[in-house]
Amino acid sequence: MIENEMDFESRLSAPEYTNEDNEIENSLRPKQLADYIGQEKAKENLSVYIQAAKLRNEPLDHVLLYGPPGLGKTTLAGIIANELGVNIRITSGPAIEKQGDLVAILSNLESGDVLFIDEIHRLNRTVEEILYPAMEDGKIDIIIGKGPSARSYQLSLPKFTLVGATTRAGQISAPLRDRFGVILRLEMYNQNELAEIVRRSSKILNIPLDDKGAYQIAGRSRGTPRIANRLLKRSRDFAEVKYDGVITEEAAMEALSSMEIDELGLDSVDRRLLMTMIRNYNGGPVGLETISAAIGEESVTIEDVYEPYLMQIGFLARTPRGRCVTHAGYQHLGIPFNGGNNSENTQQKLDL
Ligand code: ADE
Repeated sequence: MIENEMDFESRLSAPEYTNEDNEIENSLRPKQLADYIGQEKAKENLSVYIQAAKLRNEPLDHVLLYGPPGLGKTTLAGIIANELGVNIRITSGPAIEKQGDLVAILSNLESGDVLFIDEIHRLNRTVEEILYPAMEDGKIDIIIGKGPSARSYQLSLPKFTLVGATTRAGQISAPLRDRFGVILRLEMYNQNELAEIVRRSSKILNIPLDDKGAYQIAGRSRGTPRIANRLLKRSRDFAEVKYDGVITEEAAMEALSSMEIDELGLDSVDRRLLMTMIRNYNGGPVGLETISAAIGEESVTIEDVYEPYLMQIGFLARTPRGRCVTHAGYQHLGIPFNGGNNSENTQQKLDL
């Protein structure tokens, strides 16, 4: 029972896709840079690179997008293709199992096309090796047959732009990373940007929403548009049943509290993570694998999904000796900060 509740709640504020998201998210994706809210620095640079490539009548250099899930990497890849006026072919690292899979994709591209590979850090090494000459010289070497009769052929590819996306830039091999001419880091969105995204989505989906309602949802979306859009849809349910259909501040607050999402967007898993670190490990330092075993969440999920936001709001610190709950984290949970073996505290003492 509790397990099910956790599943439900963690999914609501998890930045990964759900099936429902997939359908609606596509209708919400902006198609042009001008409609894409936030990520000003990345947008500005990208706009120059796209215009320059068009002026020179050349394909855009390969682009690597990295940052936590749900920040709009797929959306941006779609915009790049649209602004260049070319097709986009979408796949992902784990979906390309064999060299032949990638050869088939590459040889079917048309000149100038964008190939989007999501979770590119999960490509296996043998597949990656095909990508190097393809990215660099627009060629691939294929071996047909086995043993003494094996023959090597070189295949020339149409010019293309690879857009790779990853949540973990550190896990991309150096030879692959070096072949991207443009590397852009996506940042978490601030509350104003998220409120604008929520207002834009509410117009597209025909959901009545006032400014304070938008601001409430934005403030609890963990810096992530995908979560903001999901909370918008769930708030609509509450507004329709209890508040004449308009998402006001009051309606949004009731909806979000009912979903156990607090004023800062923390859900039950975030709170359990921090609480476990405080209760069982005196606030840290504690290793990732230990936290993972204690709360029953995979360590990659903790690293990719929970930690980025907890670190962004300053509730969790990573130190060489492990993770620590910060003073602010204790405060938010209403627990007195005793310092304990918390290295942040040790650091403070050292600073004094
Ligand atoms: N929907 C999701 N992400 C968005 C963004 N950055 N701008 C506009 N709409 C979005």
